[in-house]
Amino acid sequence: MGFPHLKNRPVLVTGGAGFIGSHLVDRLVEEGAEVRVLDDLSRGKREYLEGSWARIEFIEGDIRRPGDVSKALTGIDTVFHLAANTSVPRSVEDPRYDFEVNAGGTFNLLEACRLGDVDDVVYASTAAVYGEPRYTPMDEAHPTDPISPYGASKLAGEKMGAVFQRVYDINFTTVRIFNVYGPRQSMYVMYDFMVKLSKSPRRLEVLGDGGQRRCYVFTDDAVEGILVAAKNAPGEIVNLSGDESVSVNELAEKMIPELSPGAEIFNTGASWKGDIQILVGDNSKLKSKGFQPRTPLADGIRKLIEWHQNKA
Ligand SMILES: NC(=O)c1ccc[n+]([C@@H]2O[C@H](COP(=O)([O-])OP(=O)(O)OC[C@H]3O[C@@H](n4cnc5c(N)ncnc54)[C@H](O)[C@@H]3O)[C@@H](O)[C@H]2O)c1
Repeated sequence: MGFPHLKNRPVLVTGGAGFIGSHLVDRLVEEGAEVRVLDDLSRGKREYLEGSWARIEFIEGDIRRPGDVSKALTGIDTVFHLAANTSVPRSVEDPRYDFEVNAGGTFNLLEACRLGDVDDVVYASTAAVYGEPRYTPMDEAHPTDPISPYGASKLAGEKMGAVFQRVYDINFTTVRIFNVYGPRQSMYVMYDFMVKLSKSPRRLEVLGDGGQRRCYVFTDDAVEGILVAAKNAPGEIVNLSGDESVSVNELAEKMIPELSPGAEIFNTGASWKGDIQILVGDNSKLKSKGFQPRTPLADGIRKLIEWHQNKA
């Protein structure tokens, strides 16, 4: 889908040096938007933005600091808010940090929008707001009952946004993202498999029983989904997920031939706290608005592996 309305539009991407954010920035630049990035580089990297660097404005700043946020918002029309603590395990270890960045940071952004007359925010939320599934695939009406501090802090951001929409007329679009994968990814299961197999090529340790199911969406498709939501579902809540659901063991079986043929899978039995057994999203609402994931899992995995191998 094309997004001609973005041409010359001043947009801010918080977390724009991160994994998804940097791909979103590249696409916004391609669409002709005037892009500014706010990122504290705690996880993001300048090098992820090297393709767009000459055409963007980069502000190194912290979403927890109101002054940094209001500076970044000057002259902006639309904000894509992706800055967050994105590690569930870190949220369990340090819930205060997670809350301050995710819930507090989102509040700072909304408050700066209210005071600065910016009235369009697109929020990268997460499937973690749902918690353990009561049914699958999970649609947007599924109860929200997070089981990790991360899920709770992201849900707090959603709720705050909904109230700012109601009370202050800020258009707040919530995109509940399921599992994204692709180049520039340096955490989560696919990355872990690459690291583990490079250290021990004959044996791949898979956390849990390997039956945890996920539906993966490739970065380019995820970016398209965010833009479709912003354009065709403004002010709504939409799931963003891929069409293909696989178990962690099936994923390992797909990756082993590419990385270390013949390696054996070893399941540990126990997984980490906050891991959700089945995380499969119903993406039909976003599809009805024009979203279509296009990258088959096998192709996306190959691109991810190639990127890591070229980088090494
Ligand atoms: N990757 C996924 O599968 C997935 C799934 C669901 C939701 N999300 C959401 O999408 C968004 C992007 O996630 P990602 O996977 O690209 O993760 P990421 O960690 O690569 O990106 C987050 C970015 O935010 C920046 N950041 C962190 N704290 C900050 C702060 N205090 N001030 C300014 N910048 C800060 C980081 O440096 C990083 O560049 C997040 O909001 C996340 O919750 C991602």
